[in-house]
Amino acid sequence: MPSKLIIALDFPSAEQALAFIKPLSPDTCKLKVGFELYVSAGPSFVQSLVEQGFDVFLDLKFHDIPNTVASACRAAAKLGVWMMNVHASGGEKMMMAAREALAEFEYPPKLIAVTVLTSMDQSQLQGIGIDQEPKLQVKRLANLTAQAGLDGIVCSAQEAEMLRAELGDDFLLVTPGIRPAGADIGDQHRVMTPEKAITAGVSYMVVGRPITQSDNPQQVIDLINQAS
Ligand code: C5P
Repeated sequence: MPSKLIIALDFPSAEQALAFIKPLSPDTCKLKVGFELYVSAGPSFVQSLVEQGFDVFLDLKFHDIPNTVASACRAAAKLGVWMMNVHASGGEKMMMAAREALAEFEYPPKLIAVTVLTSMDQSQLQGIGIDQEPKLQVKRLANLTAQAGLDGIVCSAQEAEMLRAELGDDFLLVTPGIRPAGADIGDQHRVMTPEKAITAGVSYMVVGRPITQSDNPQQVIDLINQAS
């Protein structure tokens, strides 16, 4: 079975990221490139990961007017990435424009949306004019994402069961905040073990520090893959 593990390559430079992935196999993990690494290492670095055979999730959370987001998605697809994301709060038209831009490709990358950032609590949401419990706002934006025809969302594993029931079996639920039993929680608040996340209906698990800061990354990768 293909691996459900996406390793968050949260490194400050291409050199450090490349040294880390050198012993890894594309058969046992996918890779996520976020803002820090993308800004320092650039598109050619992303392409080099793709050329090494890795499925790459480009986590740049596009949020702009529909035409601009569609163009950015097109440019990302040309790098050969496997998955990319936008902010659902950019609205249905923006998400549809992104999806239509990707449909032009022979093998379109998967397109998912961020609903509510996990750093946003109820008072933060109120501050930007959203008078809604975070959980209900997540549900609302997840439904909007499905309506716009996207492949799935980024969500907390704690919300996965509710969202799986709401959105059906084919909708991708991609979840960070995964910690193998006994691993350091770090700054994550609501964590879940890989076993529980899979039972809750998660499609892919995003794991960073428990692997990137481990003395034996392959051992942690194997442990997580065994759980799924
Ligand atoms: O090191 P750790 O496993 O906490 O890394 C989780 C990764 O998932 C990081 O790249 C982080 O930016 C990302 N992420 C998250 N929570 C979200 C969205 C993304 O932790 N809500």
